[in-house]
Amino acid sequence: MSELATPCLIVDEAALTANLELLASYFEDRVCKIRPHFKAHKCVSLARRQLSTGSCVGICCAKLSEAEVLVEGGIEDVLIANQVVGPDKATRLARLNRTATVRCAVDDCANIAELGAAAAEEGVTVGILVEVDVGMKRCGVPPGQPAVTMAQLVAATPGLRFDGLQGYEGHAVVLPDYDERKQRVTEDLGMLVDTRRAIESSGLPVKIVSSGGTGTYDITGNIPGIDEVQCGTYALMDVFYAQVRPEFAIARSILATVVSNKHDQVVVDVGLKGIGGEFCDPVLLEYPEAKPRYVSEEHTPFMEVTEDVGKRVYILPPHGCTTNNLHRELYLVRNGKVVDVWPIEGAGCLE
Ligand SMILES: Cc1ncc(COP(=O)(O)O)c(C=O)c1O
Repeated sequence: MSELATPCLIVDEAALTANLELLASYFEDRVCKIRPHFKAHKCVSLARRQLSTGSCVGICCAKLSEAEVLVEGGIEDVLIANQVVGPDKATRLARLNRTATVRCAVDDCANIAELGAAAAEEGVTVGILVEVDVGMKRCGVPPGQPAVTMAQLVAATPGLRFDGLQGYEGHAVVLPDYDERKQRVTEDLGMLVDTRRAIESSGLPVKIVSSGGTGTYDITGNIPGIDEVQCGTYALMDVFYAQVRPEFAIARSILATVVSNKHDQVVVDVGLKGIGGEFCDPVLLEYPEAKPRYVSEEHTPFMEVTEDVGKRVYILPPHGCTTNNLHRELYLVRNGKVVDVWPIEGAGCLE
């Protein structure tokens, strides 16, 4: 550890393993399974570790370029839990399906035609989930008849295969009060399951209904008719999500160096270019009460802390997903020693 140049991203293997095993064992005897979300770490080696821990049906990701690095890394079942729009991207998606199963979500008729045309041109069949808006008001068609009609359109489009539904309850995953979260999710995902039943009654089989996240795994994962939960943050966690899900350990930190100690504070050598700064303040692990004065590009001053210049400290990021996107590799640490360096292949994969 003492040889690592700072700032750098550290993952504690024991905490990571405990997190993966906790969720895998929760789903071991359940009908619903996990489809871990790649966006939360963007690291193919970690995705493989998730799959090998068990109870996982595949990986999901946010972007086409993330799916490309996953397939390149040998992952065979990928869901892009978003829309893939534009003829060039439709072709790239179709090509991925030559060697792997790479599905995506849709909520638009013209996009369905575009994806079907690209798949037919490439001589492949692309599996599609119709996205249903369950209350987040991001993407998705309304539940009920609009989703049934869109499912039928997908099923009738050459080059496409209707595989099921996606409905992400992002408006509810981090509601602080658990009972309120449970009630909201149960009500809103009821519409998704009703939509599934309506599609099945129309004669179309529904293979996959994909939903959920770290904040709702034990709610969404117990609703009959939901097949998989898209949990991401649980693997490495962060300061913000730890308030909602204390059963998972924060396995991710930034190793930083004190570069100045004037003004009754320490200034560490990492800021917004190495720490995803949304939602709340970063935490200085050795001084959890210390408040950052601000977080600038390359510096974070923590107030009322005394340490020598050169001292190495750990910072817990507020938001883990955006933190990993800023790093090219992570250092896997066991008992205080670096045991592996894992590339973060998905860092910067924005398209
Ligand atoms: C489509 C989708 N699924 C699942 C998740 C859940 O991720 P997490 O487990 O980190 O809450 C997200 C989070 O943004 C998402 O956008």
